[in-house]
Amino acid sequence: MKKLAVFVSGGGSNFLSIQREIDAGRIAGQVALVVTDKPECPGAEYARELGIRVYSYPQPELRPADLLAALKAGNCEIVLLAGYLKMVPAEVVQMYERRMLNIHPALLPAYGGKGYYGRKVHTAVLAAGEDQSGVTVHFVDEKYDHGPTAAQVTVPVRPNDTPETLAARVLEQEHRIYPEVVGALCRGDISWGSDGKPVITPPIEIQYDDSGRRV
Ligand code: GRF
Repeated sequence: MKKLAVFVSGGGSNFLSIQREIDAGRIAGQVALVVTDKPECPGAEYARELGIRVYSYPQPELRPADLLAALKAGNCEIVLLAGYLKMVPAEVVQMYERRMLNIHPALLPAYGGKGYYGRKVHTAVLAAGEDQSGVTVHFVDEKYDHGPTAAQVTVPVRPNDTPETLAARVLEQEHRIYPEVVGALCRGDISWGSDGKPVITPPIEIQYDDSGRRV
């Protein structure tokens, strides 16, 4: 059972999608700590309701070493960024190298990096006239939206899409792929090739029945 830290700043729906799979016994993990820069956000609120400790970071009086100490106190082995909008301190990124994931609502390296967050991502995809977008789950390095890709899912862009309709279609896939990758990481099913890229074995396959229920 791996101890997880989840970092949130907003709705917390990805956090909840992971928690749901933990509760269903499909992720061998336990969320030991939720870190947030917005203590009143719904994601932090869910954590408190579930009895999970919430740690507020950044705060003016706190240093990266304090965040590291909080992660250590919770025995956190894996860090999951789930809509966290602040830069994670380099000390933490280094400590959790190959053990920290992020989810981004586009097909990185396109539409990623500083300034590409939330609605702005989907607005840019639509403005560019793309016919597809998607989701990227990647390991975290010291640049925004930059580390090695663990998994991607493609989502069609429809002619009448608004940023909101596209975001909703992408988010639905986020809730499927992120728990899968987290589950693989917790099981030790991710290895690293000599090219520095992660390999998930067995590959992630998500299948649904006709009613859209996962089988
Ligand atoms: C998601 O779209 C995620 O890809 C991005 O931020 C959003 C977070 O949504 N990094 P939620 O807080 O998980 O609902």
